Amino acid sequence: MLQGKKILLGITGSIAAYKSIFLVRLLVKSGAEVKVIMTPSSKDFVSSLTLSTLSHHPVLIDLFDEQSWSNHVELGRWADIMVIAPLSCNTLAKMANGQCDNLLLAVYLSATCPVVVAPAMDEDMWHHTATKANLKKLESYGNKIIPVGKGELASGLYGDGRMAEPEQIIEYITVNFFLTSRLANKKAIVTAGPTYEAIDPVRFIGNHSSGKMGIAIAKELYRRGAEVTLIMGPASTEFSANGINLVRVTSADDMYNACLGLFEKADLAVMSAAVADYTPVTRADQKIKKKEDHFNLELTKTKDILKSLGEKKKQGQVLVGFALETSNEKEHALDKLAKKNADMIVLNSLNDKGAGFGHDTNKVTIFSREGEEIKFDTKTKDEVAKDIVDTIIRLHYA
Ligand code: CTP
Repeated sequence: MLQGKKILLGITGSIAAYKSIFLVRLLVKSGAEVKVIMTPSSKDFVSSLTLSTLSHHPVLIDLFDEQSWSNHVELGRWADIMVIAPLSCNTLAKMANGQCDNLLLAVYLSATCPVVVAPAMDEDMWHHTATKANLKKLESYGNKIIPVGKGELASGLYGDGRMAEPEQIIEYITVNFFLTSRLANKKAIVTAGPTYEAIDPVRFIGNHSSGKMGIAIAKELYRRGAEVTLIMGPASTEFSANGINLVRVTSADDMYNACLGLFEKADLAVMSAAVADYTPVTRADQKIKKKEDHFNLELTKTKDILKSLGEKKKQGQVLVGFALETSNEKEHALDKLAKKNADMIVLNSLNDKGAGFGHDTNKVTIFSREGEEIKFDTKTKDEVAKDIVDTIIRLHYA
């Protein structure tokens, strides 16, 4: 997404400047052309040699030296975007008040491109009324502010004020400036992970689903502009919401209720959860004690969420299901497409290496209502999510 994009990275005097080295590296790796401008005080935190080597451009610091004058107007016009990361309290205050005592500030004031800042400071400075007022001013100038994180700070304290991680900064600029928002104004729901069916207060029936595929799909839909709600069972995979609404559920019944409530207003639903097919008929209130040699647990079918949504589907709603198969894969996938009234079924076969539960990769074939059968290679789950979302867009929102 950042291939060929021209990015001006401003670095100010903050301990978080060390992260800018990784930021430059990641930006260059993703195909962007990066020019770095440093404030004089940032030189105490990172070396311009490191940054010029990684960015393949000389680093700019001074407005002029004895031989030349840096054309700040040209720089501000060259860039597709100006990112200031880290943004110190001092530079923030100067930007808010239009001060211009170094090259970075001169470029900022003459930039015609969008400006994004990633503040970094100690918690008390971050919460100071003056800082808040300065950030408000920046917002009023049309600048975008990447939220700070919570964590260990340079002071040794723990709290708000950490600069966003380089990966988060790249994600922010990609989503906000460089993606075509094909799914803007579309509401999507995605299910992910396993469900747990309680037997008693300490035991349950579950499965090994990690939730990774559903999380990757939710993120990709969000990247394309959709308003996404992820309904996730008790998966072990960490997930920080990052703009995605998160609904945590435990059982198949909880997931069913959450989906049904949200589907009515949704444009698109992707059911990638590994929902339990059966649940105990009764749940014991107390822990079941070991007594007989044999123990029979009576199970009853859970509600099929995908099928229920298929029955309720209205004109214009798009419904995508998954099929995890071990034999007669195509036949079963087509059967599910028809029986559950889905628009697409994403098949993953447990016979394929690197596909299914627990892996970071997956290998899928998509079957569409239109009769298409699209086979993909083994890829990371993030790449598979892109393929799935690309196919949804091509068939329904192109
Ligand atoms: N699914 C669902 N609700 C259920 C069971 C499954 O919504 N109670 C959805 C899954 O999220 C998936 C699709 O149905 O999108 C197919 O799931 P899968 O487990 O492959 O198939 P089942 O319909 O459960 O049939 P079987 O287990 O017999 O293959």
